[in-house]
Amino acid sequence: MKKIYLYGNWKMHMNKAETEKFFIDFKPAYEIYKNDPDLEVGVFAPFTSLWAAAEGAKNNGVIFGAENVYFEPKGAFTGEVSIPMLQEIGVTHIILGHSERRHIFNEPDDMIAKKVKAVLDANIIPVLCYGETLDERESGKTFEVMTRQLKSAISNLKPEEVRKIIYAYEPVWAIGTGKSATSEQAQEVCEWSRNLIADPKVVILYGGSVKGSNAKELLSMKDIDGALVGGASLKPDTFLEIYKAYKN
Ligand code: 13P
Repeated sequence: MKKIYLYGNWKMHMNKAETEKFFIDFKPAYEIYKNDPDLEVGVFAPFTSLWAAAEGAKNNGVIFGAENVYFEPKGAFTGEVSIPMLQEIGVTHIILGHSERRHIFNEPDDMIAKKVKAVLDANIIPVLCYGETLDERESGKTFEVMTRQLKSAISNLKPEEVRKIIYAYEPVWAIGTGKSATSEQAQEVCEWSRNLIADPKVVILYGGSVKGSNAKELLSMKDIDGALVGGASLKPDTFLEIYKAYKN
């Protein structure tokens, strides 16, 4: 069996108390999966909940990370958080280039590339998101857009850096809509991505309305190594149900 990455992106949900409660409920639910070598669980929390997430993650042996970071180590960048600040909390993974950063906050490709490089230099694993909007898909631009997004982030990196990144294909039209890509659509893009990245060993996740009811189909696909989950990751039972459904 392949190793499955089950990563939860909490977005702007889960304050400190909710994070603590999540891990209290998570502990007994996770007991049966705890020693499963084929599963890696990760939780990506808002900045203000990261200390609580650090504690909860340590107690459960799961990974935790941030949802964004700035690439400069310090300075006059009002409102931003640096990589050393996140290292102080023990963050090992950081989501970068999420479509909500790209589209709501207008983060350009070159800024995302700088973040990817800075995060790698700090020995933290970037979880690099990419994917097309509905308009781009319908006008036949899916692969053109993703080539730009991926190439701008990785073209100046060494092969070992490219391999360290965890990639997450997230079609924008499938995020938070309840309408997942079909397993064939997701597989097609993940396989194409693996070829573009030109490294058969890279980890590629799919994200966009993943839940218990579609997990088996999606995660059984050859080029999909796991899921980056939004809504269903906010509760331990709906989150872990995704892996349970895949295994059954
Ligand atoms: P949903 O699972 O809520 O569609 O969100 C997906 C996502 O954006 C994960 O990063």
